[in-house]
Amino acid sequence: MENRCEVGPSGNLSLYTDHLGDPICRVAELVVVSGSDDRERREIVGAIRGCIKTVTCGTKLSRNANNIQKVKSLPVYTKLAYILGLRVSSSHRRMGIGLKLVGEMEKWFGENGAEYSYMATESDNHASVKLFTQKCGYSKFRTPSILVHPVFAHRLRLDDRFTIIKLCQSDAEALYRRRFSSTEFFPRDIDAVLNNTLNLGTFLAVPRGESWPGSDEFLASPPESWAVLSVWNCHDVYKLEVRGASRVRKALFKTTRILDRAFPWLHLPSVPEVFRPFGFHFLFGLGGEGPNAVRMIRALCASAHNLAKDSGCGVVATEVANHEPLRLGIPHWESLSCAEDLWCIKRLGEDYSDGSVGDWTKSPPGTSIFVDPREF
Ligand SMILES: CC(C)(COP(=O)(O)OP(=O)(O)OC[C@H]1O[C@@H](n2cnc3c(N)ncnc32)[C@H](O)[C@@H]1OP(=O)(O)O)[C@@H](O)C(=O)NCCC(=O)NCCS
Repeated sequence: MENRCEVGPSGNLSLYTDHLGDPICRVAELVVVSGSDDRERREIVGAIRGCIKTVTCGTKLSRNANNIQKVKSLPVYTKLAYILGLRVSSSHRRMGIGLKLVGEMEKWFGENGAEYSYMATESDNHASVKLFTQKCGYSKFRTPSILVHPVFAHRLRLDDRFTIIKLCQSDAEALYRRRFSSTEFFPRDIDAVLNNTLNLGTFLAVPRGESWPGSDEFLASPPESWAVLSVWNCHDVYKLEVRGASRVRKALFKTTRILDRAFPWLHLPSVPEVFRPFGFHFLFGLGGEGPNAVRMIRALCASAHNLAKDSGCGVVATEVANHEPLRLGIPHWESLSCAEDLWCIKRLGEDYSDGSVGDWTKSPPGTSIFVDPREF
């Protein structure tokens, strides 16, 4: 059915996702079948997936008991549900199946204590936007950008002003919990994310020659500038494929790859093979501080590019808030990226667990968001 559903911006190109039977295709999965009583002749005509997790939805201030001048910002968590993979076969659209699937999924969310539900779609996917905002009570919430960079046939040079250190999982967890837990959408089970076999590691950039002193010491007195990101291996979970390109375009792109492979020292930017199934790495948990943080993020992205090249990926992708200050350091091609991914949200329950934030759906966006790689 996924095969029959075109997903993508209106136009002649569409993006096809092959889930390779992904067993982590999330917690709940609903399908609608049509056809006769004969099981053999039945076909799936609609599907939806959903998951629930606990994330940061805001912050509250807490005063230090010994020093009332010292105010700390603590995360406020909520139970958030996420809808993904809604598909209705083109032969069965506009019959109310999409609406029914969302309703059934929300019932499951409610039974499992979710306080909010959200979904992401391209802002020009009118069918989906209309379905959620006009029929299901969702409101437009955040508009992050998906930034995509091709993986070239040559390696990218690393900036030798910085040292890149791979952190062990416990250090990465300490850094993320202490520096990022107030970021919107930060998953409380960050340890599960970092321990997942699909996580390829957390990388820290520091000024050249500096070493990792341990998380306590680093957090107590970090260098003037530092940056961090983690790499998630989507390559082994599902493949993407761009469909609908003309032969001329395919031939042109192929030529760039042939040249890049033949003369890697020229560092020619080449277009990867996206018209056949290709995998990618997703960069998450991007952050940093100091005057060189943007340059350090660029260095980390170059290093991630080289890792993706070694793994045979077609592209490297990430998703950041619209006003993310570090996005200047994230190399990407506009033609492959999505400037405005639209996230819509709905409040499911009125009994809000922590009154200090109020209705999250009405809160203004922060400068950063934490995008969970399990949902990408
Ligand atoms: C989006 C999608 C799931 C809708 O499924 P569907 O079963 O056709 O939707 P429904 O029949 O339940 O429609 C409910 C409402 O959604 C809106 N809607 C659905 N399709 C629409 C379209 N093509 N244009 C405008 N509005 C549309 C309408 O408000 C509709 O109510 P109405 O028929 O009374 O006007 C389906 O078009 C699809 O699978 N698209 C490709 C995959 C995709 O984009 N998925 C969404 C990713 S989040």
